[in-house]
Amino acid sequence: MSSSSTAGIHDLSFATTEFVLPHTALAEHNGTPVGKYHVGIGQRSMSVPAADEDIVTLGAAAAAPVVARHGADGIRTLVFATESSIDQAKAAGVYVHSLLGLPSATRVVELKQACYGATAALQFALGLIHRDPAQKVLVVASDVSRYDLDSPGEATQGAAAVAMLVTADPALVRIEEPSGLFTADVMDFWRPNYRDAALVDGQESIGAYLQAVQGTWKDYGEQGGRPLEAFDAFCYHQPFTRMAYKAHRHLLNSAGYDTDEAAVRRALEATTAYNEVIGNSYTASVYLGLAALLDRREDLDGRAVGFLSYGSGSVAEFFAGTVVPGYRAHLRTAEHRAAIERRRPIGYDRYRELHRWSLPTDGGDHPAPEQTTGPFRLAGIGGHRRRYVRR
Ligand code: CAA
Repeated sequence: MSSSSTAGIHDLSFATTEFVLPHTALAEHNGTPVGKYHVGIGQRSMSVPAADEDIVTLGAAAAAPVVARHGADGIRTLVFATESSIDQAKAAGVYVHSLLGLPSATRVVELKQACYGATAALQFALGLIHRDPAQKVLVVASDVSRYDLDSPGEATQGAAAVAMLVTADPALVRIEEPSGLFTADVMDFWRPNYRDAALVDGQESIGAYLQAVQGTWKDYGEQGGRPLEAFDAFCYHQPFTRMAYKAHRHLLNSAGYDTDEAAVRRALEATTAYNEVIGNSYTASVYLGLAALLDRREDLDGRAVGFLSYGSGSVAEFFAGTVVPGYRAHLRTAEHRAAIERRRPIGYDRYRELHRWSLPTDGGDHPAPEQTTGPFRLAGIGGHRRRYVRR
């Protein structure tokens, strides 16, 4: 049977990039009718990192307000989830730990399984808190989604980080047992170590995602999960926002329910507000869906939310959370709006330059151009060591 654990998400904050490319500019460049982007995939703009932004600066910018509000006391673990890692050995979270001035008595680790990593991090956090409820875990999900220029995936790029403080007595969402799990060895989306941009078989990836939705829901039911009617809203991984609708309709159909479009919209529409203007943020995406839901709906006290986390390759998990009564007093709605509105629009040519830009790999000393106005920046690289600064 499903049980409401006491632990869950106490605070949630996100950050996104310095620049934004509207899909109108992409459509104008490649001659695509803009309706394909706005309606067909449900995307209006994509966050574009400056040359001196990356998963570390975004992750630190997301997490800093959480540490500022709650202090570092009790945070003994920082889990950094990403699939756009900047080092094969060192966890990006160690840089974040340093930029935030967290105590040395902290364990820091990086997790990867495509877009699923942040959910693994959340589950690990809950396990640690179960062992010692006095501890808090800082989960940071940070990604830059990058596909080849002029490829079908280009329109689904984006970048953002979400930071979540996971505690025994949360103010936002209690996470329940059980979870529905699903793993299948598929090559729908992957990024070999020698590539900066992901490879993807678009249609296969959609099919693999839908298969995972069905698989997790089946297992969730077998584990004694809630019935579908018990949920008030659903946060799906959103590589593009229309995917959430495809996924939910598939869940309803495969579980033998009618697809009542008004009910589908009611269950999903609040969750897409940030993703449709940020683009795919991989590990962060499902939790950006949660941020949008909490920021936009005022009627969720005590209500159940379903989460579907999908990571290509593939691993997926369905689980439930209960929104804590009084959650609205703990939100960061104004800061979230500001993170979106502070982005500076760029044209296609500037975006293309940024897409091609990367730090030299010759071991020399190379400053990064100062472009971001955010609180943290990548200052450059020297002797193969990345240097970050806090403003
Ligand atoms: N007006 C309105 N709608 C239009 C339109 C127009 N003028 N032109 C086309 N459309 C619609 C199409 O009918 C289609 O809708 P349906 O899916 O409902 O049929 C939609 O716009 C997209 O059109 P296409 O399928 O022709 O688009 P495409 O093949 O060029 O690219 C894509 C779509 C495959 C998603 C591509 O963007 C892609 O490869 N993206 C990256 C991979 C991805 O996001 N996969 C998702 C699942 S995997 C995952 O979730 C993990 C992850 O994060 C990557």
